[in-house]
This record gives sequence, structure tokens and C-alpha cells, in this order.
Amino acid sequence: MRFVETWIPATLVATRDLSPGIREFLILPDQFDGTAYPVGSHINVSVAIAGQPETRSYSLVGEASSQGFKIAVRRAEDSRGGSRYMWQLAAGARLDITRPASLVAVDWERDNYCLIAGGIGITPIVGAAQALARRGANVTLHYAVRSRADAAYLDELADMLGDRLVVHASDEGGRLDLDALFASLPKGTLTLFCGPMRMLDAARHAWIGAGHPLSDLRYETFGSSGTLPTEAFRVRLKDSDVELEIPRERSMLDVLNASGFEVISDCKRGECGLCAIDVVAVEGEIDHRDVFFSEHQKHSNAKICTCVSRARGTITVDTLLRADAV
Ligand code: FES
Repeated sequence: MRFVETWIPATLVATRDLSPGIREFLILPDQFDGTAYPVGSHINVSVAIAGQPETRSYSLVGEASSQGFKIAVRRAEDSRGGSRYMWQLAAGARLDITRPASLVAVDWERDNYCLIAGGIGITPIVGAAQALARRGANVTLHYAVRSRADAAYLDELADMLGDRLVVHASDEGGRLDLDALFASLPKGTLTLFCGPMRMLDAARHAWIGAGHPLSDLRYETFGSSGTLPTEAFRVRLKDSDVELEIPRERSMLDVLNASGFEVISDCKRGECGLCAIDVVAVEGEIDHRDVFFSEHQKHSNAKICTCVSRARGTITVDTLLRADAV
């Protein structure tokens, strides 16, 4: 699927704190018709990080509403700058955003649905829960959080789902056992997942282990979540003396392009694989943050999705294109 990025001007109408670390933003495009968007849709928001324009992608919360687009942003301790930028905005701020787009296909004809959210991964799941509850579908939502105080939209979800909302709060010892959960699901259940990368890896293993087809596990993750902390790393260009520093607040894709080593891209969310380039050597460790490559491909470290993946130490890559100046 090709992502068409049409930027439209919009205004931040209101903010609302959902928990100490999660803030909701209501954004109204200048020209807004309230057209419905598919479950799992996201918008891109143009943010400024260290004076540079960058793009951040946020899931839309809930089904379409006449009020505008709702997103919720967690204030991330190891933020690359996007959440910091969003959190300093006040009502009335002007923004550039893209129109909603969705990568998650939901078929509505299943007998059973399972929704799983980890932390801020609840954002795209709220709309799915709304749509399924409205259809009277057999759906259960498992919401894994550190504590109920950290959770967003608990009251709304409880109203919608009643006892089909199961909160797994780790400070109450309520760890989500994905193996047991997936083993208990009837065959043909469609599961929608959104959570951090580590949880997604566990979900994929458990899903396959329980004998369900991988195509019945639909997922989203956040481009910024990895297994290593977000920190600066170095990229060496094969057959050249060029070595670039990738600061913690910028992506490898941005730095390569800004340095004249053109890398094509599309989704910038680690989903389409278009920005992948060859890895020639790794002195340190790669933190694959995409959902494009398989576990096996990630393990081989032969390629890296430059839009979201990061590293510790220095990696040598081959973009196949050479900067004009080199
Ligand atoms: S641009 Fe789509 S995975 Fe990087």
C-alpha cells in the first residue's frame, strides 16, 4: 500500500490529561467533514525537534466524531522529542497533520474477537472496541498496564464492554499470560494487538504456539518502542570514510537523507519495509523496531529499517546510493 501524505492545517482545540503520563489532544482540521475512517487509523503530525521538522504518527482514538481527531500521547522518558513537543502545546496551537490512514484490516464477520492493548497501545484499540461493541460482537479486551492509575480510557471502556474488559495491572500481580489466553481462544478468533515491541514478539510466539494462523493476529506497534534504550549511535557508510552520528532524537533515515545518502521511504512507521538498507557489519547491537521483517530476518541483521530501527555502537551500512559530495 502506498501512503499518500496530504498535509492539512489544523488547530489543537483542547487537551485533557487521562493519567499523569498520558494526555489526549483534540485536533480539528480547518476543513473537516467528520468522514468515518477505518478502525486502526492514524494521522501524522508535523513536529519540530531541535529546530528540525519531523513527523510523528499517532493512532486515532475512537471512531470518527464531529468534534475532530482525538489522539493520546504518552510523555515518554526516553522520547526522541515527539512527545515533548506535543506536551508543550496548548489549546489554540496550529498544527499540520495528514488525513487518517489505516494499515490494519479488520473483517467483521468473525464469531469471536480478542483485543489486546499494552500501555499506550490502547489508543487504536478504543475504536475497535467501540465498533465491535456497537455490532454486538463477541469481544473481550485485555488491557495490560503497570497500574490502573496509569491506564487511559478505563471508564469509557468499562461502560462499553462491562466485564468483557479485563485489566491486567502488574502492581496488582495481574500479569497477562498470553500463552494461556491464546490457548483458550476458539479457532477463527481474530485478535487485534497494539503494544510495545517486546510484548508483540511475545504475542507472536504465543499465537503461533497456540496453533492459530498468523494472519488472524493483526497488530500495530509504536515506531519508537524497541528493546534497547533510545540513544545516539554511529553509522559508517560502506566503501567511504563517512561516519554519521545518529542523535537520539533523529532517525537514521533522516540523517542519511540530510547527508545526501538518499534512502527512499514511505510509511515511516516500520511497516512497509521500503526504507530498508543492507547492513554490512555490526559493532554493537541492532535494535530492530520495525514490524516488517520476520524474527529470522531480524536475527540475521542483514538489513535494517532506517525509519524506526536503531542501534548501540556502530553499524556499517550500504545504501547503494552515494552522496554527491563523496
Ligand atoms: S518507511 Fe516504511 S518501514 Fe521505513
